[in-house]
Amino acid sequence: MGRTFLADSFATNTGTYYIKVNLSALFLYGASIYYIVEIKLSLMNTRESNMANQPHPIQYQGSKRGIASTILNFLPKKIERLVEPFAGTAAMSVAASAQRVSQQYWINDLNKPLIQLLELIIEHPYDVVDGYSQVWNEQIGDSIKHYYQIRDKFNTSNDPILFLYLLARCVKGAVRYNNEGLFNQSPDKRRKGTQPEKMFKNIEGVSKLLKGKCVFTSFDYKEVLSQVKSTDFVYMDPPYQGVCGNKDSRYYSGINFDGFVSSLEELNRKDILFAVSYDGKRGNKTFGQNLPKNLNLKRVEIQVGRSSQATLLGKQEITIESLYLSNPLIHHLQDKKIDFYPLHKQLAIIN
Ligand SMILES: C[S@@+](CC[C@H](N)C(=O)[O-])C[C@H]1O[C@@H](n2cnc3c(N)ncnc32)[C@H](O)[C@@H]1O
Repeated sequence: MGRTFLADSFATNTGTYYIKVNLSALFLYGASIYYIVEIKLSLMNTRESNMANQPHPIQYQGSKRGIASTILNFLPKKIERLVEPFAGTAAMSVAASAQRVSQQYWINDLNKPLIQLLELIIEHPYDVVDGYSQVWNEQIGDSIKHYYQIRDKFNTSNDPILFLYLLARCVKGAVRYNNEGLFNQSPDKRRKGTQPEKMFKNIEGVSKLLKGKCVFTSFDYKEVLSQVKSTDFVYMDPPYQGVCGNKDSRYYSGINFDGFVSSLEELNRKDILFAVSYDGKRGNKTFGQNLPKNLNLKRVEIQVGRSSQATLLGKQEITIESLYLSNPLIHHLQDKKIDFYPLHKQLAIIN
């Protein structure tokens, strides 16, 4: 019956896991039957609750902080180096370090001020705390006017400390850029941004986890992928956007779908272990384009949670994100010689 047994699995971030066993192989082109096996993992619950305390100085739309521990369960337990070509806030590296999965990290994102900010937070945390406290305190009086002044200053200087203030203060922690690449998100009028004391704890927490363990770059992801080694594990969380080229106001840059698929083919050829967070759905609405079948990846669905917007509107919408696992990774997960988390042992038994 083969690998189709593993074709889909479904993970919730409540600690209860469902594995959908797709028996479509039994019916050549017929309907698929799904058996749902419920596995309650107390260990997973412990890991989830630990993650709730994960430090997070940078607010960022699309951050994987909320599901990082769930994703970690699909990675090898020990990794020589974790490479994040689309690091954003590096939520996976923070989570992996908290779980002692790896001692080395390569944190890359095309957004240079973001990477400079991460590097400062990790290597020089107290400088960032001082700088942030100063900018934050200066807003007292007319905080909206202050925000726009800082935004102007940031757009000419690219100063990472100013960026931290903007991220803490802007609407939904969502970066937005105009056609010229200038940051143009508005301030959140109801909030003043993370208090310096809280920011201090988060910055110190991230620094303690990652200091001295990281390489920081702001390359295009393709450059990173061309340099990865066979002993690396690559976790990718690109902006999903279908086929419409490189323009994406949500982030500093977008990516071209076909180019990304070619890069994954190249990783496959090199037998490099990788996982990709890509498309998903919210309620009936899908976002992103499924990665093609010829990449030979396994897709896992992870429940992210109810969208707050939908809850406000009285809808019961659940967001599901896809995590694609590379074929060599699946082989590793099934290899009994490696000590994997219980979920993978379950997957291996089912297969
Ligand atoms: C979905 S976000 C990653 C979020 C991240 N996983 C986290 O937890 O914060 C995607 C990131 O890809 C970056 N990006 C976009 N195009 C890129 C490219 N061509 N090369 C490298 N990074 C890129 C964006 O700047 C953005 O930070």
